[in-house]
Amino acid sequence: MSVSYENSQLILNTSHPTQGSVSWRSPSNLALIKYWGKHGRQMPRNPSVSITLDNAYTETTLNYKRRAGVTGQQISLKLVFDGRVEPEFTARMAKFLGSLLPIYPFLGQLDLEIDTFNSFPHSSGIASSASAMSAMALCIVSLERHFFGQADLDEGAFLQKASYIARLGSGSACRSVYPVMAAWGQHGDIEGSSDEYAVPLAEMVHEHFRQMGNAILIVNSGTKAVSSSAGHELMEQHPYAGVRYAQARQRMGQIIPVLQQGDWDGFVQLVEDEALTLHALMMASRPSYILMQPNSLELIQRIRNYRKESGIPICFSLDAGPNLHVLYPQSEKDKVRFFLEEQAFPLCERGEWIDDRVGQGPVEI
Ligand code: DP6
Repeated sequence: MSVSYENSQLILNTSHPTQGSVSWRSPSNLALIKYWGKHGRQMPRNPSVSITLDNAYTETTLNYKRRAGVTGQQISLKLVFDGRVEPEFTARMAKFLGSLLPIYPFLGQLDLEIDTFNSFPHSSGIASSASAMSAMALCIVSLERHFFGQADLDEGAFLQKASYIARLGSGSACRSVYPVMAAWGQHGDIEGSSDEYAVPLAEMVHEHFRQMGNAILIVNSGTKAVSSSAGHELMEQHPYAGVRYAQARQRMGQIIPVLQQGDWDGFVQLVEDEALTLHALMMASRPSYILMQPNSLELIQRIRNYRKESGIPICFSLDAGPNLHVLYPQSEKDKVRFFLEEQAFPLCERGEWIDDRVGQGPVEI
């Protein structure tokens, strides 16, 4: 069912506060079934499911002040990221906020100042749009609640709206508003699922996967040669697009019982298939491109060998980049740490990695 959040009534008058601030910490997420291909206004070509991370997050404070005498159709924005003014990020955020004016006309009545930073190194090559855009969306929906009250926004409605707004900023960001795991995109096996916002999955996820560790191995921290936006675009003319979207739907149907039953073998199979499919799609695009690097492949081999030797259901996933996410049961943390120290960290750029795990979702701070 389609939702419309456009609301010309959300206008400030003299009784509303003239200045204040809201702050949120929101995590990044890692897709198990990948979103790759979109249409219209940030609508996914296929459903996806992700784990919510814990240590990789963005903290955003949104300060506002009433603009004297104007009800603008323009966004007034100053943005500081990691202590610096970044024109490119500011322009992207201003465009995003401008696109929200039909939903939140009050944004045009305010001078906005955003102060934001990431917990993970700016240069780590780890996707920050999911955490940054979800933190921003949560701040804006909080602002609505702050000005106009809670009446229509109980906890569920609040997060659904934040997820919808986050999607407009960056598709994958819509999944970050929920703890543990979330699904985005309509799928018959997930009640209430929608292309417009993500839905929470935590309640149906087996304990095994709620306790999962995630070591993020930084193979290369440089800027990617091809952005995710360009990659989504290439799917529009992709020779395998149709079969890929059908496959993603089928894999969604397969991963749901795996997550419910705590089936590690099924999990390992599906997660690695998805990671390699994503990169296979890139290699088969026109023009084709390769984001994995020699050390990404070497790490994949070592992880698979270690799984075979140890019997521990450790597996890897990849985002649209060369870095690896290593997923493993929390109960095996010590053994996995030993393996990573011996065999994986030496292949990371400057030995860099992030010790992460499944997280409990965003918090207002
Ligand atoms: C490979 O959400 O970054 O991480 O919607 O254009 O902002 P935009 O793209 P983005 O794409 C993420 C792609 C992915 C897979 C995923 O997170 O599902």
